[in-house]
Amino acid sequence: MTTPGAMPAHVAIIMDGNGRWAKARGLPRVAGHRAGVEALRGTVRAAPDFGISYLTVYAFSSENWSRPKSEVSDLMGLLKIFIRRDLAELHRNGVRVRVIGDREGLQPDIKGLLDEAESLTAQNDVLTLVIAFNYGGRDEIARAARKLAEAAVDGRIDVRSIDAAVFAASLDTNGIPDPELVIRTSGELRLSNFLPWQTAYSELTFLPCYWPDFTRDHLAEALRDFAGRERRFGGLAPQDIAL
Ligand code: IPE
Ligand code: IPE
Ligand code: MG
Repeated sequence: MTTPGAMPAHVAIIMDGNGRWAKARGLPRVAGHRAGVEALRGTVRAAPDFGISYLTVYAFSSENWSRPKSEVSDLMGLLKIFIRRDLAELHRNGVRVRVIGDREGLQPDIKGLLDEAESLTAQNDVLTLVIAFNYGGRDEIARAARKLAEAAVDGRIDVRSIDAAVFAASLDTNGIPDPELVIRTSGELRLSNFLPWQTAYSELTFLPCYWPDFTRDHLAEALRDFAGRERRFGGLAPQDIAL
C-alpha cells in the first residue's frame, strides 16, 4: 500500500505532442521535436529535486518507424545531438543512463553512442535516466520470451523455474523497479505500447499540455495528484480491513 503523501521513486513519461505544438505555431514538426528535447533537459534536471530516482522517457517507439522517412531521420539526429551535447553534463550531475528497446535495429553510430552513454555513467547514482528508444512493449516481451526459450532449449534453465520474477529479469528493464507513476502529455488517453508489463499497477496521469510546454510545475502537479491516490494492489485499503 502506498501511504498518502508518498512520492514515487520511478516516474515514466510518454513525451507526446511535439508535432501538434509545432503545428499550432505554424512550424515544421522537427521544431516541435527540438523544443521537446529542451523540455526533456529541464525534466532531467528537476527530477532529483523531487526525490525521483528513476526517470523513464519514451523517446522513439518501435511503431514510430512508420512515420515519414524525413521525420524518422530528424528524430535519430536529435537523439545523437542530445547524447553528444548532454552526456558530459549528465555524467557530471551523477545521472546514470540506461537504454531500453531493441538496439540491434539501430544504425551502428547510434548504437555506439547509446553504449557509450551507458558505460560512461554506469557508476552514477543520483538519478537513473532510462531512455526508451526503438522501444515497444510487445517487442520487449517477445524478445524476453525468445531469450528464455533459447535458455531452456540449451538446458541453461529449467522451464518450471519460469515465473513472473524470472520473466521480469529477462526484460530490458531488468534491475529497474516498476514505475509507480506514468505521465502522458498531449491529452491522449492511451499507453501506445509503453511498458505494458511494468505498468500493471502504475498510477496513470494524463496532462493536456503538449510535451514542449511541460515544466517542473507540471511535474509537481502530477506528483501531488499521485500523492492523493490510494493504491491497493488487489488488496484492501487499511481503513477497510475489518478488525
Ligand atoms: C512525441 O510527439 C514524440 C515522438 C513520438 C517521437 P509526436 O511527434 O507524437 O507529436 P504529435 O502527437 O504528433 O503531436
Ligand atoms: C508514443 O507517442 C511514442 C512516444 C512518445 C515516443 P505516439 O505519438 O507515437 O503515439 P500514438 O501514435 O499517438 O499512439
Ligand atoms: Mg504523438
